[in-house]
Amino acid sequence: MNFRIKSLDDTLANAERKSLKRSLGAFQLTMMGVGAIIGTGIFVLTAEAAQKAGPGMMLSFIIAGFVCAVAALCYAELASMVPVSGSAYTYSYAVMGEMIAWVVGWALVLEYAVAGGAVSVGWSNYFVGLMDRSLGIDIPEALTKGPFAGGIMNVPAAAIALLVTWLLVIGTRESASVNAVLVIIKVAALSVFVVLTVPMINGDNFQPFAPNGFWDTTGLGIAGAAASIFFAYIGFDAVSTAAEETTNPQRNIPIGLIGSLGICTVFYLVVAAGVIGSIGAQPVLNDVGMAVAPGSAEFAAICAQPQHAQALACSGEPLAFALDMLGWEKVSQVIGLAAFLALPSVILMMLFGQTRIFFVMARDGLLPGADTLTKVHPKFNTPYVVTLITGIAVTAFAAFFPVGVLADIANSGTLFAFLAVSIGVLVLRVREPNRPRPFKTPAVWVVGPLSLLGCGFLFFSLPLATQLTFLYWLIAGLVIYFAYGYWKSPLAKPRA
Ligand code: ALA
Repeated sequence: MNFRIKSLDDTLANAERKSLKRSLGAFQLTMMGVGAIIGTGIFVLTAEAAQKAGPGMMLSFIIAGFVCAVAALCYAELASMVPVSGSAYTYSYAVMGEMIAWVVGWALVLEYAVAGGAVSVGWSNYFVGLMDRSLGIDIPEALTKGPFAGGIMNVPAAAIALLVTWLLVIGTRESASVNAVLVIIKVAALSVFVVLTVPMINGDNFQPFAPNGFWDTTGLGIAGAAASIFFAYIGFDAVSTAAEETTNPQRNIPIGLIGSLGICTVFYLVVAAGVIGSIGAQPVLNDVGMAVAPGSAEFAAICAQPQHAQALACSGEPLAFALDMLGWEKVSQVIGLAAFLALPSVILMMLFGQTRIFFVMARDGLLPGADTLTKVHPKFNTPYVVTLITGIAVTAFAAFFPVGVLADIANSGTLFAFLAVSIGVLVLRVREPNRPRPFKTPAVWVVGPLSLLGCGFLFFSLPLATQLTFLYWLIAGLVIYFAYGYWKSPLAKPRA
């Protein structure tokens, strides 16, 4: 077993050697957080949550939001102490050792790269809907769905992933300003949605509140929906991956993390209430009156039946769909347009996070070809090699896998990383009680364990297949570590 640790001081010093330019302030970071958070989760996965939990998804949003809030408070403390790129990976390295750090970094690949793929597929849903409803262009399903969803390849999803990769290669600053505009569009769209749907809320639509109960082994129920809709909140930690590009990171990173999560949580709860209350959100049932898990072949067959054409749970673009149902067809096109324009900002942040984590892992000598991977572009000042490699992987996920499956896998990796952060913050309080903490997690001995329990609970509420996928990913990661990083890490060599 190897638990060699890189001290916090080493971590901070090492970061100085290959550094990126500091240009991001508190406002930009909060915008970056909101840019990373609001996306496919609320715009697309609301339909999956309706199938899993019915109106009880209100509770799912609250549970998932609560877990993220306690995790964000833990993140903020570590991020303020170690304002170095790499997020949970970097903190774990300094607190729990290289092997755990590697595993966490490896899990973060799921969070960022796979989530980037999921958001690309969500974007594609809105793009296809927009083409159809606004321009009457019906793109064949074979080209808009991956092989597991009845098509050949999701071409729009792959195209958007590539476009975003290019944006990142040409520079963080430009990307951050584009992001700011897109965040405004996204927030405006959700606000319009709320203004139109909330006055239409009918209390009867909340009954029955929990048609699938709280928990079951197939991932249905309020807990299963919470585990999936958790996806809607992930991304706030992307803020911490930009620590080395932040001015006054000790102050600005906690503001960015907690501020962006808070803004999004408020929006989600109101939007969810608007959807459920205005058009209803009961799951669709099979011939024997049972709800089946979304994303399955059986579910697709049920949704193809004409009596379910009006069901929220079957929609790929539920927010536009809800407005259509309420007779706001023109506005629904505007919402579709907003999603079309703004979801790429989420992909951008996911890719950004991934490239920065790879960059730091390569700098630490844990990835093969570190010198090539850490190359910074002479003109654009971006880690372009790592960006291109990540972009191609995300494009492949987007082209071939369904959104719900990708989102659940991303959640599994994220929950694991959050677990590590929650443990890390507690370990460090004991081990280095006197190290300066510009941001202190309030009531850490309550918040930390709550975060641990919450992440564990959501992880085990994911579908079993997702949990197993995560396990295989973890095993593959350990094999790679012991075949490469373990021997090559600078910590493996005696110091001169
Ligand atoms: N939270 C981000 C989204 O919902 C990943 O798209």
